[in-house]
Amino acid sequence: MTSSSLPLPTDPHSYAATGLLRAQHLRLALTVDFAQRTLAGTATWLLAGGPAGGPAELVLDTHGLLLEAVQLGEAANGPAANYHLAPANTVLGQALHIWVPAGTAAVRLTYRTVPEAAALQWLTPAQTASAHPFLFTQSQAILARTWLPCPDSPGLRFSYEATVEVLGPERGQLLALMSAENPQATAPDGRYYFRQPQPVPAYLLALAVGRLDFAPLSGRTGLYAEPAALPRAAHEFAELEAMVAAAEQLYESYRWGRYDLLMLPASFPFGGMENPCLTFVTPTIITGDRSLTSLVAHELAHSWSGNLVTNETWNDFWLNEGFTVYFERRIMEHLYGRPFAEMLQVLGEADLQHTLAELGPASPATHLRLHLAGRDPDEGLNDIAYEKGCLLLLTLEQLVGRPRLDAFITEYFAHFAFQSMSTDRFASYLTQTLLTAGEATRLQLPTWLDGPGLPAGAPVAQSARFAAVGVALAQLAAGTPPAGLHPITKEWSSQEWEYFLRGLPPTLPATDLARLDAAFHFTASGNAELLAAWFPLALRAGYAPADAALEAFLLRVGRRKFLVPLYRALLAAPGGRARAQQLYQRARPNYHSVATSTLDALVLG
Ligand code: BES
Ligand code: ZN
Repeated sequence: MTSSSLPLPTDPHSYAATGLLRAQHLRLALTVDFAQRTLAGTATWLLAGGPAGGPAELVLDTHGLLLEAVQLGEAANGPAANYHLAPANTVLGQALHIWVPAGTAAVRLTYRTVPEAAALQWLTPAQTASAHPFLFTQSQAILARTWLPCPDSPGLRFSYEATVEVLGPERGQLLALMSAENPQATAPDGRYYFRQPQPVPAYLLALAVGRLDFAPLSGRTGLYAEPAALPRAAHEFAELEAMVAAAEQLYESYRWGRYDLLMLPASFPFGGMENPCLTFVTPTIITGDRSLTSLVAHELAHSWSGNLVTNETWNDFWLNEGFTVYFERRIMEHLYGRPFAEMLQVLGEADLQHTLAELGPASPATHLRLHLAGRDPDEGLNDIAYEKGCLLLLTLEQLVGRPRLDAFITEYFAHFAFQSMSTDRFASYLTQTLLTAGEATRLQLPTWLDGPGLPAGAPVAQSARFAAVGVALAQLAAGTPPAGLHPITKEWSSQEWEYFLRGLPPTLPATDLARLDAAFHFTASGNAELLAAWFPLALRAGYAPADAALEAFLLRVGRRKFLVPLYRALLAAPGGRARAQQLYQRARPNYHSVATSTLDALVLG
C-alpha cells in the first residue's frame, strides 16, 4: 500500500498516522554528553498492526534530529530500511516515512540531538545549586520529537524501557531519572535502566540528569532534589502521601506505582509538569509554610485526568486541564477545608476574567474546544482550558450534586483508563451516562464547548477569608497606615497576600509602596508568587528599592508565567525598554526554549 491510502492523521500537530501500523513499545538507548550537549543513541520501535501482515508505512515525528541510520528489526546489524524525511515545517518538524515490509516487528533508528533541541535545557554547573551540570526535558506539547523520533500525538500511546548512560568525568555523581520506575541512588558507572510498563503518550516522556539526592516521604512517595535544596523541599512537600490518599478517596486508586517529585533548578519554565511517576516541579513554590502546594495537587491530579484519560489532540486540552483544576481543588478542600479551596477558586476566576478581557468577548480562543491547526500549540494554549474547564465541572456539580458527579468522574477514569478522549466523545458520554434530558437542556453544553466567554449562570465563587482581606484594603484606602493592619494580616497565607497585592490600586506612588514594604517586607519576600505580584507595582511607581530584587529574580527564575508579566511591566516603565533588553540578554542563557520563544518576541521583537 502507499502513503496516500493511509488514514489521515486526526491530530493536526502530528504526522504520525493514527491507523494500521502502530509503534506500541519503545526501547530507547541513549548517552548523555554534557560537553557536546547531545543525546545520542537508538530508538527501537516495536510495531503492531499493519494491513493483514502486508507491508506498510510507519510515520514518525522528528524535529531537528540528526538521523544516522534506519534499520529493520531490533538488531544492531539489521538491514537498512527505505525511508524518506519530508521537508521541515517550522512548527511541526519533519515527518519520517519508513517503509516496513510484511512481517517486520520493529524498526531501529540511530540518531543524535542538536544542542539547540527545544525540549532540552542543558545547565552549566554555574547555573545549578550543586555546581554540577544539569539536563532536563520538557516534552509537552510537541517537543518530544526534538529529542527522539516518535509518534508525537497525545492520541497515540506506547510503553517504554530505556537505558541511559551519562558520559564524562562527573558521571559517577549524576543521577538520571525518567517518567518511569526510577533509581533512588547514583550509579558509579553512570548507567541507568528505566521501565514504564503503562502505555503513555509522547508528551509524557521525560528525562532529567543532575546531582540529585532522594528523600522518601512515604512508602510510595518521595522527593528528588539537588542536595542543598532537599531538606527544605522535603519539609514543604511532607504532605505528599496525604495528597495521594485524598485523590484516591475521591476517584479511585493511583495506577502508576510510585509517585515521586523532582524539584528542578529555578530555570524550569513551568510550575509543574505531570510526567508519570515523577512530577517535575519548580522550586518557586517553596515558601516554608506549604502554602503553594496546590500546584503539586494539580500535577498529581493529572495522574488521572491527562495521564490515564488523555486529551486526544491539543484542541481537547481542556479535558486535561479543566478536570485537573477541578480535581486539584477537591484535593485541597479535602485536606485543608472549604475556605482554603474557595480562595483558590476565587483567584482562578480572577485569572480567567483577566484572560477573557485580554482575548476579547468574541475570541474563539475563549472556547473550550480549540482550533489550533496550523498554529504552534505552545502559543494557542491559555488559561481558558484550566479555569473555564473547571467552571464547567462546577456547573455540573451544581446541576447534579456531588455524589452523582463524583460517581460519574470515577467511572469515566476507570472506563477510559489508558485511552485518549476527544471533546465530542466526552460530550456524548456525559449526556448518555450522567445527564437527564432536562439537565442536558439546562447545561447548554454546546455553548460551553463552542461559544465564547462564559455562559450566563456560570458559578461565581465567594471567599470569606478574602472578605477579610477586603476589609484590610478598605482600611488602607481610608488612611490606616500599613503597620496598623498587622492584627488582620498576622495569619495570612500566600493566597491572602496575593489577593491583597492584586487589590491594591495599581498606581500607588513610591512613598506608599515604601510604607507597605516597611510594614510587610514584600521586596525581601522569599515567596515567588508575592514577588511576582509586587514587582509590577514597584515598576509602575518607579520604586527603586525593589530594583535589585527584581533583577535577581529575573536572573534566577525561568518560570514563564512569572517572566511574561514582569518583562511586560518592565517594558512599560519609563526607560524600561533598554533596561528590559539589557537584563534579558544577561538572563536569557538561564531560560528554557519554551520561555525564550515567547520572550524573544516580547522583549526583542
Ligand atoms: N501540563 C501542564 C503544563 C503544560 C501545559 C506544559 C501545556 C506544556 C504545555 C501542567 O500540569 C500545568 O498546568 N502547570 C501549571 C501549574 C498549574 C497549577 C496550573 C504551571 O506550570 O504553571
Ligand atoms: Zn496541568
